[in-house]
Amino acid sequence: MHVLMINGSPRVKKYSNTDKILDKFIEGLCETGTTYERYEISDRKQWEDIRKAYYDNNNILIALPLYVECIPGLLMEFLETLTPKGDGTRIAYILQSGFAEGIQLRCGEAYLEKLTGYLGCEYAGTLVKGDNFSIRFFEGDMRDKVTGPYTGMGREYAANAGFGTKECKAFTGYEIFPAHMRIILGIVFRTVGRVMFTKISRSWGCTRPLDYRPYQ
Ligand SMILES: Cc1cc2nc3c(=O)[nH]c(=O)nc-3n(C[C@H](O)[C@H](O)[C@H](O)COP(=O)(O)O)c2cc1C
Repeated sequence: MHVLMINGSPRVKKYSNTDKILDKFIEGLCETGTTYERYEISDRKQWEDIRKAYYDNNNILIALPLYVECIPGLLMEFLETLTPKGDGTRIAYILQSGFAEGIQLRCGEAYLEKLTGYLGCEYAGTLVKGDNFSIRFFEGDMRDKVTGPYTGMGREYAANAGFGTKECKAFTGYEIFPAHMRIILGIVFRTVGRVMFTKISRSWGCTRPLDYRPYQ
């Protein structure tokens, strides 16, 4: 099998969490000899090549972050330039996000199934997973802890040409956190999390507090 892989994030490759997820996913994908070609929507210079690859390939995987509860505007802008295919092409998706509960990605997931129909293609499932905010903050083992599990999903995709298996469904993790976890997370975000995010924002050159409201 040969797969056209598109990173649908508007973030440049270097800073894109989706890019790091794809790196690990591809390790599993290639173990059984599946080949791939890979593009980034964030680079408009690639759009002509991506369009050509879309028409030339029958197995397409679009990996995208959830941006404001649905798909990023730049990816949408690109998709609107495509003509529906109607040749049995299968499209699968990796839908990943910052917040961790599966439930908040379900609206985006439902849209991706519809989108596949608009493109005249067959839906091959969506791998749904949150809790990915931290990827670009971490390096080495800490980053691998978050991205590593995607290698197994690369294997699953290669074996089934999609994300229909129960292993892929289970990959989402919690649909909604149980009450005790929500309480603990609330405390962590207001204390340790606040210190951590302040530190990160300073390292990126922020000089104002995180709750600074310039228009008030
Ligand atoms: C403008 C913007 C909107 C976002 N909206 C959501 C959202 O609605 N829900 C969520 O869980 N994460 C949201 N996120 C977090 C991203 O989905 C998450 O950080 C993702 O891993 C980014 O992947 P990327 O670096 O490849 O773009 C948003 C991030 C940005 C920058």
